[in-house]
Amino acid sequence: MPASIEMYAKYARIYDLQYSGKDLGDIGFWVRLSKKFGGPVLELACGTGRLTIPLAKAGAKITGLDASEAMLGVFREKLGKESEEVRERVVLKKGDMREFDFRHKFGFAFVPFNSFLHLETVEDEEKCVRAVHRNLKPGGIFVVDVFKPMFKDYPENVFRVDLTRTDPETGITISRLSSRTYEHGKQLIHAKYYVDVIFPEGKARRHETGFTLRYVKAKEMVVLLERCGFRVEKIYGGYDFSPFTPLSKKMIFVARKRS
Ligand SMILES: C[S@@+](CC[C@H](N)C(=O)[O-])C[C@H]1O[C@@H](n2cnc3c(N)ncnc32)[C@H](O)[C@@H]1O
Repeated sequence: MPASIEMYAKYARIYDLQYSGKDLGDIGFWVRLSKKFGGPVLELACGTGRLTIPLAKAGAKITGLDASEAMLGVFREKLGKESEEVRERVVLKKGDMREFDFRHKFGFAFVPFNSFLHLETVEDEEKCVRAVHRNLKPGGIFVVDVFKPMFKDYPENVFRVDLTRTDPETGITISRLSSRTYEHGKQLIHAKYYVDVIFPEGKARRHETGFTLRYVKAKEMVVLLERCGFRVEKIYGGYDFSPFTPLSKKMIFVARKRS
């Protein structure tokens, strides 16, 4: 079982409170790519369907793969509230992005919102990229969206409030405090979170959680993709399709399966 899964088991209900009804700027980006590259579409680490459902609503035939039963449970509940037309476009699959095989091949696969960084070793990253390669049509596209490590902006052991939000529907306020330590020899970020859920009547509950991510560097990621049978065609530096530069905060790799 992937190391991060236990934390998502505890976190699944809170996950959507942090982001529901809020566009992190990436929905339009993925909708545009899904229209451009065609389908069927595969989203790795789909979680609660924050992106999968809007993509299906925009017309994509999409399969979401995730290892956390708790995250998929929230996803199923949300999907149940969608129209039959949208539900029919979505397939959910519990599985590990390091090792999966579908009966049909995909035209476009992606792993959004830093989820690739849950793979904590180069071996696991390579397994994932090879699994995507096996499951893509010839010439199919794989896009990986990760943050660029910004060590100066995130010094070790300094707590910062990195998210506050009140859900307009429920009135629930979320306040998230996070800190990090680094293990640079292994390129690991150990993140700790205190997530306070404050109910409108004033009661509050604190959830303590955290996980480990393996940060990647741009060159390393290009080498990995090329070694596993892809050609990197573009690297974007943000969801506005701007090109990646040393000042970018994001690295979004667009790679085509060499046939
Ligand atoms: C940050 S959430 C992203 C969810 C969703 N894609 C989004 O953008 O909101 C990361 C997800 O990665 C999943 N995950 C972590 N390791 C995984 C693995 N090895 N295989 C499949 N899913 C994994 C977790 O269960 C979690 O749902």
